[in-house]
Amino acid sequence: MTTETVRADRPPLRERAVAELTAARARTKALTDAVTDEDLTAQHSPLMSPLVWDLAHIGNQEELWLLRNVAGRAPMHPEIDPLYDAFAHPRADRPRLPLLGPAAARRYAAQVRGQVFDLLERTPLEGTSLLADAFAFGMIAQHEQQHDETMLITHQLRRGEPVLAAPDPAPPAGPPPAVREVLVPAGPFTMGTSTEPWALDNERPAHVRETSAFWIDTVPVTCADYQAFMADGGYHEPSWWAPEGWEQIRKHDIEAPLFWHREGSVWLRRRFGVTEPVPGDEPVLHVSWYEADAYARWAGRRLPTEAEWEKAARHDPAQGRSTRYPWGDADPTPDRANLGQRHLRPARAGSYPAGASPLGVRQLIGDVWEWTASDFLPYPGFRAFPYREYSEVFFGPAHKVLRGGSFAVAPVACRGTFRNWDLPVRRQIFSGFRTARDA
Ligand code: AVJ
Ligand code: FE
Repeated sequence: MTTETVRADRPPLRERAVAELTAARARTKALTDAVTDEDLTAQHSPLMSPLVWDLAHIGNQEELWLLRNVAGRAPMHPEIDPLYDAFAHPRADRPRLPLLGPAAARRYAAQVRGQVFDLLERTPLEGTSLLADAFAFGMIAQHEQQHDETMLITHQLRRGEPVLAAPDPAPPAGPPPAVREVLVPAGPFTMGTSTEPWALDNERPAHVRETSAFWIDTVPVTCADYQAFMADGGYHEPSWWAPEGWEQIRKHDIEAPLFWHREGSVWLRRRFGVTEPVPGDEPVLHVSWYEADAYARWAGRRLPTEAEWEKAARHDPAQGRSTRYPWGDADPTPDRANLGQRHLRPARAGSYPAGASPLGVRQLIGDVWEWTASDFLPYPGFRAFPYREYSEVFFGPAHKVLRGGSFAVAPVACRGTFRNWDLPVRRQIFSGFRTARDA
């Protein structure tokens, strides 16, 4: 029988909530203190909000869920609510709104947080599904970290001198994997979760899925792999491309991943304000779903489905159950995955042998978000919680699922079951991929 982990040893979730909210705020502060007030209010790309919008939106969602919905308090500044409703104004229009300025946004977020910590100290974590397991507090910590990743994307799009720094990842701690791909056997496995306390609505419930046998890459596709596709004329051969993908690359003259440019015969990339040669042995980053799909077709392969990805990441054939992460049930550690913006880039392909799955697949968690072949759809038995606008309104064929998390994802917002999604044209996100094939 396929089952999911049952964890009797629930961690102390109140303490975890305090720690995760604190960690998220330290990251938010670092990302917003790194630039001038002028920079905070500027729009660095029509794809993104000004950083000061994310900052006040973080505070506003925290106020809404924790102070109003959980604690029943009155709105602090009802007049600003519509400004920070992500559905009311597209990102491109946000700079023209009468937003809180940097000082007011910082003050507002800090004032909300002070009251939230008082609440978290006193409130019993039971009675409602928002309070049980401190879910709403965990959800808000994840929400802030998700916007921190969004703000890091804005930093990547921003022109000008570098303002962020982090050490490079260490070289791989051991030999590269012995094989390029592994065989995942046919059969059922448990997808999704019903036991992970802070899993979001779209990861629920746990259910059994069947897959046929398939082969999957042991590491993500590298820049060198991808350059072979480019050198073979991949961007000029329509038969590799989905029709809408071909249309997009022709319309925008795309012939390389975003942030790459060529000088003579050398490909360079811009990364957080630094221009450097493209590193051949690093997972390719900033490709659209269409680029990933075209590469896979050129390579005689395909993208894994979302179920295949999760089976490769969680199914342990020896135990006959799904684990929380590829390496087992323990939380991520720095030797297992490149998460949490410890580095400002993916680690080399073949890194983190300690994070490998039982079948030997590496770097499923961290480094780059991995595009899958699948549309973003609800699992059987899905219930929107606590709001339809987190997941439900995005279900359908317009969005493709990404899995595994990037170097910019915080551990609190990363699980073997975690689902991200975006439009197939998007490439400013920290997206890469690996390929698969039928067995
Ligand atoms: C899950 C990353 C697609 O940023 O649009 C943030 C997360 N939802 N605020 C997004 C989210 C509401 C969401 N993604
Ligand atoms: Fe949000």
